[in-house]
Amino acid sequence: MTELTIAIAKGRLQAETLDLLTSAGLVFSDQALSSRRLAIEDESGRFRLIFVKPADVPVYVERGIADCGIVGRDVLLESDANLLQPLSLNLGACRIVVAAKNEAGVRQSGMLKVATKYPHIAARHFGARGVAVDLIELSGSVELAAVLGLADCIVDLVETGKTLEENDLRVVDVITESSARVVVNRASYQLKAETVSQFIKSLEKTIRRRGEP
Ligand code: PRP
Repeated sequence: MTELTIAIAKGRLQAETLDLLTSAGLVFSDQALSSRRLAIEDESGRFRLIFVKPADVPVYVERGIADCGIVGRDVLLESDANLLQPLSLNLGACRIVVAAKNEAGVRQSGMLKVATKYPHIAARHFGARGVAVDLIELSGSVELAAVLGLADCIVDLVETGKTLEENDLRVVDVITESSARVVVNRASYQLKAETVSQFIKSLEKTIRRRGEP
């Protein structure tokens, strides 16, 4: 019987997350991993993984469909889900930045046009500085907005910096750092205390082992 359902963020964190879970002792068949199934079980049958868009991980975990999830801090900062965050993982390190063609892009006298897929993070950042912004919410390829003049600047995630570089944009401010976090549903944390804490300990041990020279 499945003891724990874990929501995995599809996309940039997915491969590293699966690698971590495998190192922590979960075994998945190649067939399951290479399939397009959105829910798979490990060989022991104790763990079920569900693959969802990053922004949906907090939703599935908060509502208890998944007991745990692995997702970037960037996504959690954007979400208002009420979750436990017992463990920070050294996966998917990136930064959330303000970027523009040049510094002048963010020194507008009027309202600053900011394109982003992180409207809450952007609103908090500029709100705290008393800068009036016109937020333009996009779903992806956010850099284009600054390149083509849809916005004066963007608030976006930077990992290698390649996308900014190849689109002639530069970082004008770093808002925060991000990496993956383990999140846990509050009820699961109580009702499945032993299984959840075993799972977290096994991840903790794995990342510690990996950090050793
Ligand atoms: C993210 C982010 C940047 C890019 C940064 O987009 O929004 O566009 O990756 O990565 P880099 O610094 O390594 O170049 P993602 O790949 O998630 O796709 P999206 O634009 O469709 O959201």
